[in-house]
Amino acid sequence: MSKSDTNQMQKIVAWSKRRGFVFPGSEIYGGLANSWDFGPLGAQLKRNIRDLWWQNFVVGRDDILGLDGGILMNPRVWEASGHLAGFTDPLIDCKKCNARFRIDHIIESKLKNHEKIKQDIKKIGESSNDIDEVESVKFIKEYKIAANFSTEVKDFLWYCRRQFDLYSKHPDDNKFNTFLINIFSIPCNECGAQKWSEARDFNLMFKTFIGPVDDQDNKVYLRPETAQSMFVNFKNILDSTRVSLPFGLAQQGKAFRNEITPGNFIFRVLEFEQMEIEYFIQPTDWEKYFKMWEEAMSSWLDMLGIKRESWSIREHGASELSHYSKRTIDFEYNFPFGTKELYGLAYRTDFDLRNHEQFSGQNLHYQNPVSAESFIPHVIEPTFGVERSVLAVICDAFEVVTGGRGEASRQEEEVVLRFDRKIAPVKVAIFPLIKKELLIKAGREVLAGLRNQFKFMANFVIAYDEAGSIGRRYRRQDEIGTPYCVTVDFETLDDQAVTVRDRDTMKQERVKIAELGEWLKEKYR
Ligand code: GAP
Repeated sequence: MSKSDTNQMQKIVAWSKRRGFVFPGSEIYGGLANSWDFGPLGAQLKRNIRDLWWQNFVVGRDDILGLDGGILMNPRVWEASGHLAGFTDPLIDCKKCNARFRIDHIIESKLKNHEKIKQDIKKIGESSNDIDEVESVKFIKEYKIAANFSTEVKDFLWYCRRQFDLYSKHPDDNKFNTFLINIFSIPCNECGAQKWSEARDFNLMFKTFIGPVDDQDNKVYLRPETAQSMFVNFKNILDSTRVSLPFGLAQQGKAFRNEITPGNFIFRVLEFEQMEIEYFIQPTDWEKYFKMWEEAMSSWLDMLGIKRESWSIREHGASELSHYSKRTIDFEYNFPFGTKELYGLAYRTDFDLRNHEQFSGQNLHYQNPVSAESFIPHVIEPTFGVERSVLAVICDAFEVVTGGRGEASRQEEEVVLRFDRKIAPVKVAIFPLIKKELLIKAGREVLAGLRNQFKFMANFVIAYDEAGSIGRRYRRQDEIGTPYCVTVDFETLDDQAVTVRDRDTMKQERVKIAELGEWLKEKYR
């Protein structure tokens, strides 16, 4: 992260706390690693994103049904899904201070020129049938690796050539990772020692027990993804509704992962919310529907108001694919701390339904109503993280204006959040120009009138503020991204009109109180 990016991230974290968006979890007890609480405005922003998603992908479509499954499920679910065996991170311990790290992350962060190393290894590999001694010595010098003997380096280079893709994309080879951390003499981030244990796999699922006895028979897991209840309920959906392929199930809810690596604010947390769709299709149609969902996810990013240049799509390499996937793309966002996964789109084949059929002994086939053909549907899965959506919309909307925006402003820096109107936590703020009884009364009447008109429009939050100068009140609303501020002044008492100020253009417009509701409805249509 460059200095200005670190600075930007620090500003965002400080602003989030100051304005009641995100607080450190359990702060008065010294906090809890990787946990955050959403304050009043953060909770509203999150709700706006979740509701917009539900409206767009469930309420607004004929082919998707909602579901709300439990967090705790029969542990056999996680055997069938592959999570018990394969949902692991490779960890390594420092033998001196006992700190624990994700080995692939420390290798990646230490080998900044990772791409160059890969290129160099490839070059050496392509230059001759055997690895040239001179080349390998050059390599030792350039990368200051700890191997002294050219045979060891040769072995290393051959090993890398075979494994590099695997290492960089799918870091499940603990032997190789331990070898890398030692040969590159990477020290412990905490104490600086170079005394590492062997790397090993660590399952990310949180365990707990049902009932009073903590034994194996009562062990259950907090779900690590919402997806599985949509597969487990597939038969119930076929039996209770009249759906036919293609159709999807959608679910929003908490998921839990025992992540070890600190998470860049709310980017990687222990408990988070997912919004997932399992879209069931005929196997031969998968490419068509993969494309459909790629476009739908891109439109969703537009809907959130995230700028097109802020995100990109990355295709997973063969060695990086999850155990269930035949094709996956990530929607990546340019966060201040790097370009990272925001959402994913995967072709899960029939992996889940087939395994659940096998493990449960229940028939999870679908029968084509026309041809009577019976088969296990395949699945396209668009998956969205709520916290990452919140972080991306904040990063995209967050603007620091040096010198202030207003002519009279003497602020060194003003913060403006240019949230899209649809997701802004507060939709409009009402101010009496000054704290005088007549203006307060008129302001409160405008507030009550609007609240009444918008009472059936979910999440239409209206704020009222009479404290401080008008300039300061504008800045307070700009800082939380309120698109419109309405000022009631002395003229209002005569002409029954108010001044509406636009957050982005700062233009002011006079609007009749009687027409204000319609004026706002037009803006929020
Ligand atoms: N059902 C597929 C699945 O769970 P995933 O890529 O592991 O796939 C889906 O997770 C999404 O959940 C990610 O794209 C991300 O938005 C979010 N996510 C995953 N782990 C997270 C974490 N520790 N903290 C916050 N969000 C997370």
